[in-house]
Amino acid sequence: MKIQIINGPNLNLLGLREKDIYGGTSFEDYFKSLKKKYHKLDLEYFQSNIEGEIINKIHEVGFDFNGIVLNAAAYTHTSVGIADAVRSVNACTVEVHISNTISREDYRHTSYIAPHAKGIIMGFGLYSYELAINSFLK
Ligand code: DQA
Repeated sequence: MKIQIINGPNLNLLGLREKDIYGGTSFEDYFKSLKKKYHKLDLEYFQSNIEGEIINKIHEVGFDFNGIVLNAAAYTHTSVGIADAVRSVNACTVEVHISNTISREDYRHTSYIAPHAKGIIMGFGLYSYELAINSFLK
């Protein structure tokens, strides 16, 4: 089972950025624990602050991997391009957010990705990613 995690803009600053919302752990550290826990999976991680690079990664893995766990971060609320990429590939995408975006500012209530996702998991901190991975295992 091949699962690609894709993180969007500013998520490279996890552990440093707005810790009250996103926590004090870097994604690199969290990913190490995920790799151990899911050692039987081919679990890959990619982060970019650049919209086109996220689209390219979706194209690259989307006809080969079984699933994509996508936290498009701020692009969730703006990007038709990423949404089109998600709907263009064979792999199922689970949309993930660390915070509960619905409990936050109005502009975070819209997701261009949601209509094309298998499901959405948000609000459970970094544990949201595990819940998303688990959703591919049954
Ligand atoms: C986020 C929520 C987005 O609204 C925000 O722009 C992010 C992170 C989350 O994981 O909670 O950068 O996707």
